[in-house]
Order: sequence, then C-alpha cells, then structure tokens
Amino acid sequence: MAKPTATVQVQSVHHYTDRLFKFRVTRPRTFRFKGGQFTMIGLQVDGSPLMRAYSMASPSWDESLEFFSIKVPDGPLTSRLQHIKVGDDILLSEKPVGSLVISSLNRGKRLFMFSTGTGIAPFASIMRDPLTYERFDEVYLTHTCRLVDELQYGVELTTELKEDPLCGEFASQFTHYASVTREDYHRQGRITTLIESGKLFTDLGIPPLDPEHDRAMICGSMEMNKDIKALLEERGFKEGAASRPAEYVLERAFVG
Ligand code: A2P
Repeated sequence: MAKPTATVQVQSVHHYTDRLFKFRVTRPRTFRFKGGQFTMIGLQVDGSPLMRAYSMASPSWDESLEFFSIKVPDGPLTSRLQHIKVGDDILLSEKPVGSLVISSLNRGKRLFMFSTGTGIAPFASIMRDPLTYERFDEVYLTHTCRLVDELQYGVELTTELKEDPLCGEFASQFTHYASVTREDYHRQGRITTLIESGKLFTDLGIPPLDPEHDRAMICGSMEMNKDIKALLEERGFKEGAASRPAEYVLERAFVG
C-alpha cells in the first residue's frame, strides 16, 4: 500500500556555491529511515506534485531532516527548490528506500564510503550514526568534486563530528579524504586513480583494500559507481543486498 506524502516546513537553508545548497525541514513523527536511504521530496508545481529522489543527509536519530542538493539551472525541481525560504512547504514521501545501508554489509574492520559531488549526502547520515562506529573500527569517507568550494559541506561535517552529541566520542575512528579534479588543490585526481595508484593508502598510511576485513559503500554518478564497482570486484569484493549481506553496496547520486 502506498504511504502518504507529508507536507513539511523548511527550517533553514544554506547555499555553498551557485551549484550546491543544503536545507533542513521538519520531520514527521511517523517518518522512519535507515542511514543511507533516500525518499522522494518535492514541491507543488501548477497544482501537481513534482518529486525527485533525495538521500536523507541527517542521521536517523535527528529531530529534523537535512538534504544536500545540486542546483540545475533548467532542472524541473532544483531550479525551483533552490529558491526555498524558511517556513516554505516541501512535499516528502514517507516511504524511504535504498540499498546503501550498513545492514547489507557483512561485519568488517574498516568501512570505506566513496562519494563524488552530492553523493556525499547519504554518508553525511551514516557518519553521524553511532551504529556505524559500533560496527566498524575505522571509517573512511572519500569525497571528490570538480572544485575546491564543492568540498565545503564534507569539511564542515568532519569538523562538526567532534562536537556531535552522539558521535563526538567516535570522531577519532573517522577520516575524511577529499580531492578535486578541475582546480589546483593539495590533493588532486579522481578517487579511482587514487585507489589504483595506491596514493589513497600511502596518504593515509593504511594497507590497501582487502575484502576479508574491508567493506565499501559507493555513491556518485553512474560512471563513477560503475568504475568503483569494477575496481572492487577485481579485488574480490561482492555486492551485498538486504537478503544477502556481502562486502559492498552502491547507490547513484540523484541529480536534476
Ligand atoms: P572529473 O572532473 O575528472 O570528471 P560530476 O559533477 O560530473 O558528477 O563529477 C564529480 C566528481 O566525480 C568530479 O571530480 C569528477 O571528475 C569525478 N568523476 C566523474 N566520473 C568519474 C568516474 N567515472 N570515476 C571516478 N570519478 C569520476
């Protein structure tokens, strides 16, 4: 049976660049989700709902819901959504779904979360969930963007983790690894290149990927997902599902 679409209110909006912004909305008491899942959100446009898939970026214990969004100038939803103000109404489908959940992974020692662009959103939720640190000793979030300013959300999340009421004590288990591809920065290159060259591991002073102890989650563009999937499978990782947990899971980052 289809669950209802709720109307929630915007509590805050923060613009990072002319391509990226985050916002918070009220959370219906009945809305439950697992870190890494997504739902449909949107606006009433000419009397009809216009909805798109968005990952919840806030942790599952949080009182409100956070989303991290791209702004596409001619995108049907984001061209409008980017103008929301505090107090505005947003539509939210109360049916969270998705395969990017820790429960689809076997237990392991290290968790690698590979993201590009707005693909960081589901990991913003997972990295703020105490369960993540109970399941894994070491948690690595890689984030690659075209430009330095686009890394800012991830940089803030990392800084704020230390002050987080529930996860602050686990902050030493977490490592943020950022790179850019189209601008000067101290760390450059696609994550696929950084894995293949081994630079990711030498930079962090850790052993390379090993399916026996490592688990991975992937969220980026279709191409990025495909390339990391191939790279993991070459190293012996298998894709997990709710019914059959394994070594990695993936979800595409949603745009438009
Ligand atoms: P690049 O600048 O070399 O294309 P996008 O905004 O297009 O989704 O890209 C976000 C980031 O993901 C960019 O840094 C981009 O690098 C990188 N990227 C795009 N495609 C891939 C891929 N197939 N594998 C790894 N990284 C990718």
